Amino acid sequence: MDPVKNPFCPGAGTPPPELAGRDAVRETARIAIERLRIGNPTKSVLMVGLRGVGKTVLLDQIRNDAEASGVHTIRLEAPEGRSLPALLAPQIRLALLRLSRVERAKKMAVRALRGLAGFAKALKVKYSDIEVGIDLDPEPGLADNGDLELDLAALLEQVAKAAKDAGTALVMFIDEMQYVEQEELAALISSLHRCTQQKLPIGVVGAGLPQLRGRAGNAKSYAERLFDYPEIGPLSHEDARQALVKPARAQGVEFTLDSVDRIISHTKGYPYFLQEWGKHAWDVAHKSPISVADVQKASAEAIGALDESFFRVRFDRLTPLQKRYLRAMAELGPGPHRSGDIAEALGRKVTALAPVRNELIGKGMIWSPSHGDTAFTVPLFDEFMKRIIPDDTWKDG
Ligand SMILES: Nc1ncnc2c1ncn2[C@@H]1O[C@H](COP(=O)(O)OP(=O)(O)OP(=O)(O)O)[C@@H](O)[C@H]1O
Ligand SMILES: [Mg+2]
Repeated sequence: MDPVKNPFCPGAGTPPPELAGRDAVRETARIAIERLRIGNPTKSVLMVGLRGVGKTVLLDQIRNDAEASGVHTIRLEAPEGRSLPALLAPQIRLALLRLSRVERAKKMAVRALRGLAGFAKALKVKYSDIEVGIDLDPEPGLADNGDLELDLAALLEQVAKAAKDAGTALVMFIDEMQYVEQEELAALISSLHRCTQQKLPIGVVGAGLPQLRGRAGNAKSYAERLFDYPEIGPLSHEDARQALVKPARAQGVEFTLDSVDRIISHTKGYPYFLQEWGKHAWDVAHKSPISVADVQKASAEAIGALDESFFRVRFDRLTPLQKRYLRAMAELGPGPHRSGDIAEALGRKVTALAPVRNELIGKGMIWSPSHGDTAFTVPLFDEFMKRIIPDDTWKDG
C-alpha cells in the first residue's frame, strides 16, 4: 500500500488517526473541569498507566477539549531533574498575561503577576533553574516567603481568583508527573487543597506511570481525596479493532477479520504497538484487504522497529547492574515478580539489591503494584530483554 497514505503513526505523543476507547475518561475529565469552572466540588484527575498506552495523547486531547470550551490551560512535562517551580513559573506567566487581557479579570491577574515576580525571586535561591519573564514589581508579602509550599499556595490562589473573575477555570496539564520530586508534589497538592477549600477554579489533569498514585499519597496523605486516578490501559478487543480498521477504511483499505485478530494478539491491545503493527502491515501489503500473511511479514519489521526505538531508548539509559536486574526479571516472565525471586535468580540478597530496585523505580522502568512486588512499566519489556540479552551473561558478574 502507498506509504505516503499510511495513516498509522507510532511515536511518543503523536496523535493517533483514531483515538479509540478513551471516551469515558474524556467525559470524566470534562465533567471535572466543568464542575471546577462553576465552583462545584470536584476532584482533579491523574491518569496512570504503563509506557505507550496513550497517556500523553489523551492529556493533549482533554486539553484541546477544555480549551474549546473556553477553559484556560497550561501544559508542562516534568522531566527528570527540572524543578516544578521552574516548569510552572513561565507557564503561569503566560496564563496570567492572557487573563489580564480580560477586562473583569485584569485586576486580579495583575496582582497575580506581581505575586509571580515575588515567587520567582524568593525561590530562585533554592530552585536556581527558575527562569521567568518579570512584567511587574513584586508585591511585598505576596508569595515571596521563600517557602515553596506557602508561596505556591498563595500564587495559585491568586491565579485562580483571576480565572474566577474571568468566568473561567485554569487547568494545569502535567505529563510525566511521577518525576516530580516529593517535596514539590507535596507543595502542589497542598496548594490545590487550599484552593479547593475556597472553591476556586484551579485544577490539575495529570498523567504518569502507575507509581504516581503512591507518590502522591506519600507526599500528602489526603491526596486520595483530592484526585481521581483513572487507569489507562491496553485497548479492549473491540477498541483495538477500531483503532486499526477505521483509519485504514478512511483511505479505502480494509483488514481481513483474521489479520486484525492477529495484530491484536501480537500487541495485546497496547496502543503504541497497534500503531507500529498497523504501519508495517500497511507498508508490506500489496493490496486491500490486508491479510494474515501480510501481518506475518510485518511482525518481524514491527518488532525490529520497536527494538530500535521504543524499547531501545529505555535500555540505553540503564547501568550494567540495572540491565542485569531487569534481565533477571524477564527470565521469570512478564511479572509481577516477588523481589525475593528476582534476587534469587541473580544469586544475591534482597537487601543488597534494594538500591538498584529503587533506582529503577526512580527511572520509571519498574513499579511496585503491591508491597514486595515488582513489575515492568514498559509492556512486553520482558520479551525485549530476552532478545537483547539472549544468553546467560547476565548471571555472572
Ligand atoms: N486510544 C488510542 N488509540 C490508538 N492509538 C493510540 C491511542 N492512544 C495512543 N495511541 C498511539 O500510541 C502511541 C503512544 O501514545 P503516547 O505517547 O500518548 O503514550 P504514553 O502513554 O504517553 O507513553 P509514555 O509513557 O511512553 O510517554 C502513539 O503512537 C499514539 O498515536
Ligand atoms: Mg507520554
